[in-house]
Amino acid sequence: MPGAYLSPYASCARCAFGKTFPSCEWHCVDFLRHKIQLETTRDVAAIIVEPIQGTAGNVVPPPGYLKLLRELADELGALLICDEMITGFGRTGKMFAIEHESVLPDVLTVGKGFGGGFPMSGVIAREEVAFAKPWANPSGSSSSYGGNPLAAAAARVTIETIVEDQLVEHARRLGDKMLAEMKRWESELPIVSDVRGRGLMIGMDLVVPGTRQLLDKKTARWIFDTLLSRGVLAMIYNPEVRINPPLVIDEDQAMGALAIMKEVLGEAAERLVA
Ligand SMILES: Cc1ncc(COP(=O)(O)O)c(C=O)c1O
Repeated sequence: MPGAYLSPYASCARCAFGKTFPSCEWHCVDFLRHKIQLETTRDVAAIIVEPIQGTAGNVVPPPGYLKLLRELADELGALLICDEMITGFGRTGKMFAIEHESVLPDVLTVGKGFGGGFPMSGVIAREEVAFAKPWANPSGSSSSYGGNPLAAAAARVTIETIVEDQLVEHARRLGDKMLAEMKRWESELPIVSDVRGRGLMIGMDLVVPGTRQLLDKKTARWIFDTLLSRGVLAMIYNPEVRINPPLVIDEDQAMGALAIMKEVLGEAAERLVA
């Protein structure tokens, strides 16, 4: 998109700059600051960031990252937009992932879990931002399906269920348990590396045994298909694996699925060595 600039995330296990945290002293944030100085007019509207990077493999940045981006946005007079499309509504063990860092963004974008399966997305903004023009002009922020009453009703029931069934707490507790189990795989399974996550948003890298080189897609696809044939559907078709179970999954289902996954990963490692 014209006028949009990209900058590497604080993805420390695979740092774009080849640095190591914390001795890097937040090189990626300094890089972003320099990039803005060199490549833009410095009249920046907003910094947009995911509190945990979802599609890249559920990458959890080190604590402090969002706070630094908040400071940088303030320095520039820019808004901080946190994209909680995936992380929102309990997934990470807090209602919103920004709560892990006590950072207050100006805008939150939400969707996916918001409607519990019903198509629903939203933009949440501070009053000052929501009522600023041109956004606040008549039709400035409207769309054909915006404010759809049926979707709003679905979202309301979803949020009530998340609160009443204590699914945020459940995601935190079960996520901790799953993460602890998967962390053990780093030493037990030669193809598993960099297990990470928060709540029911867990990631790991599949690697060539004995290296940190990402596994080829064909092997990842074999793992995905084999898991599926044994009753487990997981986003493991790429070497940057994402485990995002539904918030209503119970402990037996989750730990049972991990047991099958461990078995299949072991078989995949044997096939690679053979
Ligand atoms: C983090 C994140 N933000 C935004 C989007 C896009 O949302 P939408 O399809 O509602 O534009 C996605 C879609 O997968 C996403 O994962």
